[in-house]
Amino acid sequence: MRIERLRLTDFRNYRELDLALPGGLLVFRGRNAQGKSNVLEAVSIAATSRSFRTTSEREVVRWSAPGHFARVEVAVARRGESLDVEVVITDTSPPGTGAPALPLPAAPALPAAPALPAALFRKRVRVNGTPRRAIDLLGQVTVVIFAPTHLDLVIGPPTERRRFLDMTLCQVHPPYCRALSQYHRVLTQRAALLRRIREREEDAHALAYWDDQLARLAVPIMRARASFIARAQEPAARLYTALAGEEETDTEEADTEEADTEEAGAPTEDAAHAIGTEAAPAREGPLRLIYRPSYTGPLVGDEAVVVADLVERLAHLRQREIAQGANVLGPHRDELAFLAGDVDLATYGSRGQQRSVALALKLAELAYIESETGDQPILLLDDVLSELDARRRADLLAAVRDLEQVLLTITDATDLPEEARARARMYRVRGGRIAAEAG
Ligand SMILES: Nc1ncnc2c1ncn2[C@@H]1O[C@H](COP(=O)(O)OP(=O)(O)OP(=O)(O)O)[C@@H](O)[C@H]1O
Ligand SMILES: [Mg+2]
Repeated sequence: MRIERLRLTDFRNYRELDLALPGGLLVFRGRNAQGKSNVLEAVSIAATSRSFRTTSEREVVRWSAPGHFARVEVAVARRGESLDVEVVITDTSPPGTGAPALPLPAAPALPAAPALPAALFRKRVRVNGTPRRAIDLLGQVTVVIFAPTHLDLVIGPPTERRRFLDMTLCQVHPPYCRALSQYHRVLTQRAALLRRIREREEDAHALAYWDDQLARLAVPIMRARASFIARAQEPAARLYTALAGEEETDTEEADTEEADTEEAGAPTEDAAHAIGTEAAPAREGPLRLIYRPSYTGPLVGDEAVVVADLVERLAHLRQREIAQGANVLGPHRDELAFLAGDVDLATYGSRGQQRSVALALKLAELAYIESETGDQPILLLDDVLSELDARRRADLLAAVRDLEQVLLTITDATDLPEEARARARMYRVRGGRIAAEAG
């Protein structure tokens, strides 16, 4: 699918934007703080009703917006038909508590205002003019986003990887999303009950019902995650090899890229060499995605049998759960590991390798969403080229060459490989305005 038209009203630093967009590679070029990432953020909000940059969407309302609301409208071509999505975010915070009004030059520095509760904004979603709930927007317009912060997918805490799995699966399987939100409600109730049992305010028998609820929701969630990871394995490994592989080719090259030296100097790489007598490359191999659910029983087979097994394991964990007053087993404790051969890349990978893992995973996500829905998601690449060496930049752009629509932001035009430059549509972003560049 692709966006044919993007309209913004009082969104971030855009007062008014109306932009017709073709397919293919679209490059948004501009200096820092001009509004490049804001464009990608707007598209992500049209797709998911959420921002990939902030959890407090009221931030997107332009500071001096007279109506205290921001509007994102996209017209999307999907399977030959046109789809209109409109998301309006209203900042309902009381006057005076909003984001900075125009700062007075001589004003003394104010202490940073505490983050406002998320309840201080309202979101309204319309699809083809009909009001919809935000959750029903998921899956209409699908996007895959890659920004520098997505390195956290690899090196960040496990919650980052679970969020990735959930966002991917929610975009394609609405029942997954529903099960997930019910599961989180069960976790909250069950944890409260465990604490009451610990305080002897309640009998442990009351847990039977919640064990059953937890298991019934947990099993389809874990199965969906396992199935996605299994499906992502092949494309992720292929893309990782394309993006990170063949280090020996680099050493043969006459011109050594600066990024290579940076990689060689990364402390994590030294650690990899220090752990054993064997040289790290010999132990490395293709990328492997390893799903590590906290539930270690069999996930395949009759669902009722798996549910029963999980319930039984919960019974064994009873005393521990009561003592901790916490849910210790279930998909909220799942982990996903990235190995190259036997080497855990989160711990021992170089920065370049870790970035390649995150990118490969995102592109595998795109392939998965496409095969599940029959529609190719729009790819949003925020500021990725500046962090890659010349060869990887070319490899990445080659890997996404045939996609229907790719929105890419860059600050430095020289980061764009010649081949991509020749086929890209270029846009100049300056102070909340966008102009198509000639040629
Ligand atoms: N709610 C808002 N109202 C008005 N302006 C905003 C709002 N939120 C952010 N901005 C402004 O938007 C600009 C940042 O835009 P954006 O993040 O898109 O920059 P960018 O072009 O991607 O820059 P970089 O190259 O540094 O990533 C900043 O100047 C910021 O002050
Ligand atoms: Mg940016």
